[in-house]
Amino acid sequence: MNLLVTGGAGFIGSHFVLRHTDAHPEDTIVVLDKLTYAADKSFLDPIADKITFVEGDIADQVLVTKLVEDHKIDTIVNFAAESHVDNSIADAMPFLHTNVIGTQALIEVVKAHPEVRLLHISTDEVYGDVGDTDPSCKTTDPLRPSSPYSASKAAAELLVQAAIRTFGIQAVITRCTNNYGPHQADEKFIPTVIRKALKDEPIPVYGTGKNKRDWIHVGDHCDAVETILTVDWNADKRTVFNVGIDREYENLEVAKIILDILGKPHDLISFVEDRKGHDWRYAVDSSETRTLGWAPKVEFTEGLKHTIDWYTNKYS
Ligand SMILES: NC(=O)c1ccc[n+]([C@@H]2O[C@H](COP(=O)([O-])OP(=O)(O)OC[C@H]3O[C@@H](n4cnc5c(N)ncnc54)[C@H](O)[C@@H]3O)[C@@H](O)[C@H]2O)c1
Repeated sequence: MNLLVTGGAGFIGSHFVLRHTDAHPEDTIVVLDKLTYAADKSFLDPIADKITFVEGDIADQVLVTKLVEDHKIDTIVNFAAESHVDNSIADAMPFLHTNVIGTQALIEVVKAHPEVRLLHISTDEVYGDVGDTDPSCKTTDPLRPSSPYSASKAAAELLVQAAIRTFGIQAVITRCTNNYGPHQADEKFIPTVIRKALKDEPIPVYGTGKNKRDWIHVGDHCDAVETILTVDWNADKRTVFNVGIDREYENLEVAKIILDILGKPHDLISFVEDRKGHDWRYAVDSSETRTLGWAPKVEFTEGLKHTIDWYTNKYS
């Protein structure tokens, strides 16, 4: 494949690029990344001579077109996004620019180059709040986003779905649950818990801490994306894939597991005012993705231990 990976200097995108370069050295990879605060280009240093890195904006259709044509790109994997819910509550505009306008720019490019496939990375947050007794969300369920972030992601994927229907573009969408692992921006929940715990500082936990998330190791998410890339999309016809591990943890439980691994006291946990519009629970039914042969491999506590090691090194 000749891949254009957008957002490849961010958390999930960098893991995808590192893993793909290792597994498929014969492929061409071009990374397009705006290098926002969430990016760290040095994540790609180990493979810098094996990829082409371009600093730029996915909303720059002229640039994306040039990259697709110059590098004979056959597949775009769109990880680029503004991704932090709290930031979207403070200011939604960057989210609309990248997540909505940026995605539409990619759609315009694949409309003009129908041989190019687009794998668009969305999120389980597009389903909105899930109650404790509700069944896991299916890909056919309605989208009910709660935050400006998830609303912008829902808008983006509806544009992708509209372009599949109206223009026949080759595209699929993944809706994954919360990721954890090395390379995640400091603002996110697990890096925050680890950083604060290492400094013996109060660990902020929203509300009652009882909100539930289905945490997936970033490597398992990347494997799911790789599996979906091997599918013949024209034959398969499915356009949306849920990705999750079907094991939920309350935020409070996650904070306690991290504290236990670090040998720190639970009384570092400090409950703070809940996030506005905070979704109670996310849960997805990923059985369709499992029919492709994908299954998560990383057990949560084991994955957390190696994640904690990475951040301990970063923060010390
Ligand atoms: N992190 C999660 O738990 C999670 C879960 C499900 C889905 N997702 C989705 O996965 C994707 C990647 O998430 P992440 O956690 O790695 O995000 P991230 O914030 O760590 O990285 C995003 C990357 O996109 C780049 N970027 C931002 N705006 C850009 C633009 N206009 N043009 C080019 N590059 C731009 C940033 O510089 C950064 O490198 C996002 O689409 C996100 O919605 C994330």
